[in-house]
Amino acid sequence: MNTNIDNLNSVRKPKIFNQSASFVEGWYWVLLSQSLLVGDVKAVTIFGKDLVVYRGKDRRAVILDAYCPHMGTSLAEGKIEGNELRCVLHRWKFDAEGICVDIPNLDEPVSLKAKTWPVAEQYGMIWVWTGETPQQSLPFVLDWENQDFDFSLGSQFSIDCHPHILLLQTIDTQQINLVNKLPLKMVLEKQELNQNAIIFSTITNINGKSFWLSLYRRLFKNSLNYSVCYWYGTTSIVSFTNESTQLHIIFTTRILPGGKTEGQTLLMSKKRKGMLGKLINKLMLWVGKTISDRLLKTNDRILQTIQFDLKTPLKADLSIIQFINHLERQKPLTWESWLLVRSREREEEVREEREKREKWRDELVND
Ligand code: FES
Repeated sequence: MNTNIDNLNSVRKPKIFNQSASFVEGWYWVLLSQSLLVGDVKAVTIFGKDLVVYRGKDRRAVILDAYCPHMGTSLAEGKIEGNELRCVLHRWKFDAEGICVDIPNLDEPVSLKAKTWPVAEQYGMIWVWTGETPQQSLPFVLDWENQDFDFSLGSQFSIDCHPHILLLQTIDTQQINLVNKLPLKMVLEKQELNQNAIIFSTITNINGKSFWLSLYRRLFKNSLNYSVCYWYGTTSIVSFTNESTQLHIIFTTRILPGGKTEGQTLLMSKKRKGMLGKLINKLMLWVGKTISDRLLKTNDRILQTIQFDLKTPLKADLSIIQFINHLERQKPLTWESWLLVRSREREEEVREEREKREKWRDELVND
């Protein structure tokens, strides 16, 4: 293989790719919107960090660190009052910014803040940004901002392999051509959209006689733009498009302890007018769900046992190498702490925060 096309070092010794102790700072799905009603408080664990999610009267989802900054009670046991959350033990109350706004029997609440995290709600899901301030947008379909689309939730899944290994399947051209026996000729072109998003795309023809291939040919009229866009290495948008038809399948994943994958699929299609348009879109979304379920099932046994090590790269593996290199340039956070991996600056900030809190506690005790 002509190795000057991309750096192979990060492929052989990755710090983020296929690692279970670190992950990329970004947007990650937390819950389905429909599973959090007004007045609900739920405990969730994302990348080893315990959090609570609640929805107040204003319908806005809020995410905080799970344990009360007073004495460590789980805030998931608390109660919603309007748009605020009251801890169950000593009844301190926190607003949507995490600020302590009421302590029973105290005229003034102490100046204290529970840690909150940036939240977004889109595509029927609640998402969290795993850093202080979002640096990028939620994963979105390219050239589709401000357009109307139909979407439906697909399947929730878990699989015993790392998300990166699972999501690579859709750019592994040897596998697509040979193992899946799809008669699509694939040579993918890459384009880096920003620090956290990379897209691989090609134009191909649909040949073959099976029922599914005939259906795809009818929907996409022989010629098809195929693309896969990765966000934060853990959400991929697989798109099948031509001038008149668009189908997008989102696989959004996160890592469970031990490096397993938990994910959700989501199907999207550009809105069509009229009854016929609605019917066609229903068919498109159904086709999307069928494709995504098949993709998840096809190699599940292989994925559970693979020990990924690209010892003998071929030209056909170029997209995989480019994906890994793109991933390795992103900001890695540590599992559970969500602190930057080996960041002295951040460690200093955390130390200062801890000292401030200890000083405040000492003053209170000495009063
Ligand atoms: S532990 Fe939450 S108010 Fe005391």
